[in-house]
Amino acid sequence: MNETIVVAGATGYVGRHVVEALDAEGYRVRALVRSQESAQAPGPFGAPSLRGRVAEWKTVNYSDPTTIRDACAGADRVVSALGVTRQNASPWDIDFLGNLSLLEDAERNGAASFLYVNVLNCESGTSLTMRAKHAFSESLRRSRVAGQIVNPSGYFSDVSDFLHLARKGLGFTLGDGAAQINPIHGADLADFIVGHLAEPSTSWDVGGPDTLSYRELEELAFRVVGRRRRILRIQPGIQRPLQWAADRTSPRASNLTRFFLESLKIDAVGTATGHRRLEPFLREVHQSSA
Ligand SMILES: NC(=O)c1ccc[n+]([C@@H]2O[C@H](COP(=O)([O-])OP(=O)(O)OC[C@H]3O[C@@H](n4cnc5c(N)ncnc54)[C@H](OP(=O)(O)O)[C@@H]3O)[C@@H](O)[C@H]2O)c1
Repeated sequence: MNETIVVAGATGYVGRHVVEALDAEGYRVRALVRSQESAQAPGPFGAPSLRGRVAEWKTVNYSDPTTIRDACAGADRVVSALGVTRQNASPWDIDFLGNLSLLEDAERNGAASFLYVNVLNCESGTSLTMRAKHAFSESLRRSRVAGQIVNPSGYFSDVSDFLHLARKGLGFTLGDGAAQINPIHGADLADFIVGHLAEPSTSWDVGGPDTLSYRELEELAFRVVGRRRRILRIQPGIQRPLQWAADRTSPRASNLTRFFLESLKIDAVGTATGHRRLEPFLREVHQSSA
């Protein structure tokens, strides 16, 4: 397999697993990164180092489209796991405009496909994160490059946040916490992505093998850390004042509050994919950070 695949967001939780899976399948990887040094160190939550897995490095700054120019020259396909999660940047600038600059470069350079790691339910979300992702998905649907959109449920990496709270004896649900999610391991998502690289334009909703309500996730986190359960129910009536306060704090606080309040309310369950189970992963994370 001599195809060259451009990977954006290569230093992230999913990006690192994607690079590892591409390399294992014999693809040449061109990694777009901010820092080669951090790419070569292991990532958090067991995500692999990119050392020895990348054929070409390109340093990019998504706020400066000149650094994206010809990122896709001579490449066959693009995979983007680029997006703002914990970084301090506007999702509009990165998730939408950053990915759009890369898509335009892929179009200019005749890439055969562009696979985008999106998120489940972005079409109904009103946070800037969801709007930015939806805007980019729509641009990709209208591109002359074949666009594949993968809509994952949550990742194991993010579910680990429940563990950190449980260690402090804290847990909360929105209302009764009945909304469901089936989080997926980065390596299982990467295997899915690499297995679907050459498909025509389409989209998939994907999740992991375990479907749990948020209430059950909280209970699992307390079980793993071995603490007595103390789960606070956030009553739906408090959402508006919470959002009001966040809107007056900062654009980042406003976006994150809206994103989480909306996400905790609706099911995010994709087609069950992969075999890695959540509980052993959480136990490993807990033991390695104990
Ligand atoms: N986490 C979840 O539960 C979840 C669920 C569904 C979908 N998603 C989506 O899946 C994608 C990947 O998620 P992830 O958890 O792997 O995220 P992640 O670990 O934060 O990785 C995001 C990648 O984007 C890059 N990036 C972010 N902001 C940037 C900026 N301002 N300039 C340059 N590069 C920037 C990061 O580079 P650096 O390493 O240099 O920061 C990293 O390579 C995201 O779009 C996310 O919204 C996440």
